[in-house]
Amino acid sequence: PRKIIIDTDPGQDDAVAILLALASPDEIDVVGITAVAGNVPLPLTQKNARIVCELAGKPDVKVFAGCDRPLGRDLVTAEHVHGKSGLDGPDLPDPTMPLQDQHAVDFIIETLRAHPPKTITLCPLGPLTNVAMAFEKAPDIVDRVQEIVLMGGAYFEVGNITPAAEFNIYVDPQAAHIVFSAGAPIVVMPLDVTHKALVTQPRNDAFRALGTPVGIAVAEMTDFFERFDKEKYGSSGAPLHDPCVTAYLLRPDLFQGRNVNVMIETRSELTLGMTVADWWGVTDRAPNALFIGDVDADGFFDLLTERLGRL
Ligand code: BDR
Ligand code: CA
Repeated sequence: PRKIIIDTDPGQDDAVAILLALASPDEIDVVGITAVAGNVPLPLTQKNARIVCELAGKPDVKVFAGCDRPLGRDLVTAEHVHGKSGLDGPDLPDPTMPLQDQHAVDFIIETLRAHPPKTITLCPLGPLTNVAMAFEKAPDIVDRVQEIVLMGGAYFEVGNITPAAEFNIYVDPQAAHIVFSAGAPIVVMPLDVTHKALVTQPRNDAFRALGTPVGIAVAEMTDFFERFDKEKYGSSGAPLHDPCVTAYLLRPDLFQGRNVNVMIETRSELTLGMTVADWWGVTDRAPNALFIGDVDADGFFDLLTERLGRL
């Protein structure tokens, strides 16, 4: 199985992404989960990550706490989307599994150094603070990364936290700039694709119909998420952003994209955190990311539901 580190700020959609990975041990080996401040502050994201591992029946997964604020600015959170806890919806017990003592950034560095080059994939589902810090602290690890598959950014779909920026990139544009200019291979799941992965009522019903604690919790999470997103993005359901990352690892054939150059706006007040993607190749800047734009949504939800049923 492919070894991955999930870097995350759960978040209901982060939770589903983690569950999909933990449900797929034949293909994916989660060597650690690193929490970062984002949707809610760090004390909640690291706790939520552990709640999700226990929900999956995998209390042995190692969970680390990382950076509690972006590199160069104050933390912006998204309780208006995810609720006060970050995981509002289901009523899940507090975790009893431990939080690891090591800092998430050191865990990322140590893991990349300890494994053969190009055998660890990073899966960031939140602001890129932890990954950028690791690259700054230990530039030697960049070449050892197999691939970075992340959720963030947008091109035609522009922004969801400001008119120009997607939340994960907006929260820490400086970190995003570091990661996008580092030189490691990157696959990006921007809003353009996640806004096609919509939790319609029949898809939500399918989660619930699993009848398991995981299926019911996921239905309740996506129900909650729905309340915010539905009015905004139309009547067909809320976008399930972060699970696109894990689904891509399992079934890249479900996705389509283009190799483009992506740069991050780090200075402008108006467009801070914008992912400037050269979709039409109007510059001579070399491509640095595979930007995904399309997904077979039915295939994605079939995969997700089938895998969640295994937990
Ligand atoms: C991203 O922001 C967060 O609210 C979600 O968890 C997702 O990672 C979508 O813009
Ligand atoms: Ca997230």
